[in-house]
Amino acid sequence: MEIIRNRQGNTFHLCNDEISYIMTVLPNGQMGQLYFGKRIREREDYSHLLETASRPMSSCVFDTDKKFSMEHIKQEYAVFGTTDYRTPAVEVIQKNGSRLSEFCFQNYRIESGKPGLPGLPAVYTEADSEAETLVIELMDKTTGLQAELLYTIFEKGGIIARSARFLNKGTEDLFLGSAMSLCMDLPDCEYEWIQFSGAWARERYPKVRRLEQGIQSVGSMRGNSSHNHNPFVILKRPSADEFQGEAIGFSLIYSGNFLAQAEVDAYHTTRVLLGIHPAGFQWKLEPEESFQTPEAVMVYTDQGLNHLSQTYHKLYQKRLARGYWRDRTRPILINNWEATYFNFTEEKLIEIAKKAKSCGVEMFVLDDGWFGARSLERAGLGDWTANPDRLPNGITGLAEKIEDLGMKFGLWFEPEMVNPDSDLYRQHPDWIIAAPDRKPSHGRFQYVLDFSRKEAVDHIYEMMAKILSEAKVSYIKWDMNRSITECYSGALPADRQGEVYHRYILGVYDLYERLTSRFPHVLFESCASGGGRFDPGMLYYAPQAWTSDDTDAVERLKIQFGTSYCYPVSSMGSHVSVTPNHQLNRNTPLRTRANTAYFGTFGYELDLNVLTEEEQEEVKVQTAFMKEYRNLIQFGTFYRLKSPFEGNITAWMAVSEDQTEAIVGWYRVLNGVNMPYTRLRLEGLDPERSYHVWTAGTDKKEASKESVHYGDELMNLGLITTDASCGEDVDRVCCDFNSRLYLLKA
Ligand code: GLA
Repeated sequence: MEIIRNRQGNTFHLCNDEISYIMTVLPNGQMGQLYFGKRIREREDYSHLLETASRPMSSCVFDTDKKFSMEHIKQEYAVFGTTDYRTPAVEVIQKNGSRLSEFCFQNYRIESGKPGLPGLPAVYTEADSEAETLVIELMDKTTGLQAELLYTIFEKGGIIARSARFLNKGTEDLFLGSAMSLCMDLPDCEYEWIQFSGAWARERYPKVRRLEQGIQSVGSMRGNSSHNHNPFVILKRPSADEFQGEAIGFSLIYSGNFLAQAEVDAYHTTRVLLGIHPAGFQWKLEPEESFQTPEAVMVYTDQGLNHLSQTYHKLYQKRLARGYWRDRTRPILINNWEATYFNFTEEKLIEIAKKAKSCGVEMFVLDDGWFGARSLERAGLGDWTANPDRLPNGITGLAEKIEDLGMKFGLWFEPEMVNPDSDLYRQHPDWIIAAPDRKPSHGRFQYVLDFSRKEAVDHIYEMMAKILSEAKVSYIKWDMNRSITECYSGALPADRQGEVYHRYILGVYDLYERLTSRFPHVLFESCASGGGRFDPGMLYYAPQAWTSDDTDAVERLKIQFGTSYCYPVSSMGSHVSVTPNHQLNRNTPLRTRANTAYFGTFGYELDLNVLTEEEQEEVKVQTAFMKEYRNLIQFGTFYRLKSPFEGNITAWMAVSEDQTEAIVGWYRVLNGVNMPYTRLRLEGLDPERSYHVWTAGTDKKEASKESVHYGDELMNLGLITTDASCGEDVDRVCCDFNSRLYLLKA
């Protein structure tokens, strides 16, 4: 890894074994982009890469030159309103009404390692030797606004982390109208755009389309990153697939409003912008005030989408997630939500926990309904003290009883919300996000607390910290069940109302930071009506997230498959629930529910007492299985093999780092009769080794005998997956929603 600058100090080449990123100071002082892609050889001069042409209808920078127009020059951080007509990365609104700026190169510095971003989640290094950071210092002379562009290259992996930082060195107030984290001009548009979109209960489905002249974008203006779109997109070459070819990922480490956009211009170059959504955003900078954008992480690969995902998995697992739980396998938990909803007593909870304990479950999680007057959706949020009618011994007493069973205890909170029917709201009606003289809208009968107010965050912190210090709580599920409306803070002046969305998220991060540093052993799982805030920002504080409220095993195949493009298996909360499933009313075999949920943090979301004895025995086998294999599954290298979006069969696998162990999940939605013979080509094995292969997670009748195969055979010829559906006597076990696991040991 190296950051090389040429002799004049105006061209910079960031490179490691995999990638090169090259930029230069343009003749007008702004920064130009020359190359981002596979590693190329260093040379002193790259000026030939800066192409200019005299194009009709172009507006030009220099009086005597018809060729130099920013309209067709690839840039690092484009500004608004000069000779470039594409969407800018930054807009600066000035006292005289002008929105123009011209950020010119002033200086640079190279830092070893990677600086943290104050108040914001970001990837980090553990040793300075892991990365180097280039800081390019720019200045808009007219306003005195300084911009710093940060680029971090890592020792390993095709990763560039970027962000921008502004400092008002002028004498007048300025307003940032937009300030993107990343602006990346690519020399052509031969790409397919992949976004990860959906809705509640069907989050992060990959959607692919070809880039065309014009703008393609996704984003969120809901205040949370949202179920609808994820702050992650991929541009891939049309010929690239899971296993080969070029692709670039763009991921934003942020949990609020975002915009991800690709603009193809008239000359077929592509500008990617990623950052805080400019709609509703305006940030005031008084003299000496600064603003730091969230961080964006680009990953380049020439080895297909699996490789791209694996790079993100490793980075986000090891250098975004932090703390005690980062490298630890996750406890198998049981959550009472789908078992009881609001309808529980302490006795009932203990009953659920006892049975779970006897089946090998390690932690009991009490979900919504334990606090204040919360016996229904309409009341109680904001009053974080136990309801004595339901929990006569409080949280402390319940936690003790759970611990006495030999289990850990976890608890649900929704810290950012308040019901109008709550003591908190009655005491502080001004603490909600609401606009003067306008009716606040509700979502699930609740309002959003104004987390841009420090006193509101402090108050919630005190209530939560009290419970965490008094009771033995080992896990927190931090929920967030509505988006922001009427975005306005009574605590901020008129000219700072454009800051509320971002200040809100900074408040959320602040509360997370305080709680995770004071209670470092507590495992946090984030949640937002399922996967409404499954983003890298959250992963910095909570190493796992409830992937979706949809617990149906077949639907989960799609959701977990889509989520895996950016996020590691260890981050995906996944539970076995009852049948008929509460979201789809579908019946799937217990083994398939577990076979899907294994590829995540794993747990149960039901009362195991309602299962038959035979099923309870099966659960014991499942928990024992997960304990044995969770390290491999949660921390192995994950490969997508067959997509649920493309056919009846889904398959994925995890391989241990030393390639001696692997586990393959195979799932078939609908059964068939007299079907073709089938094979599944595996990935990531050592071609030279021989592997013992056997099945698990199957109906006993279907379990196959152990066989031995070389890695090269399994990867090229494939694993034979033919079963009873190939023939006329499809027996009972070969059913719809069937699945099995193949275990491999070298
Ligand atoms: C959200 C979560 C669920 C559950 C409920 C409780 O919908 O996603 O898992 O915690 O809230 O109200």
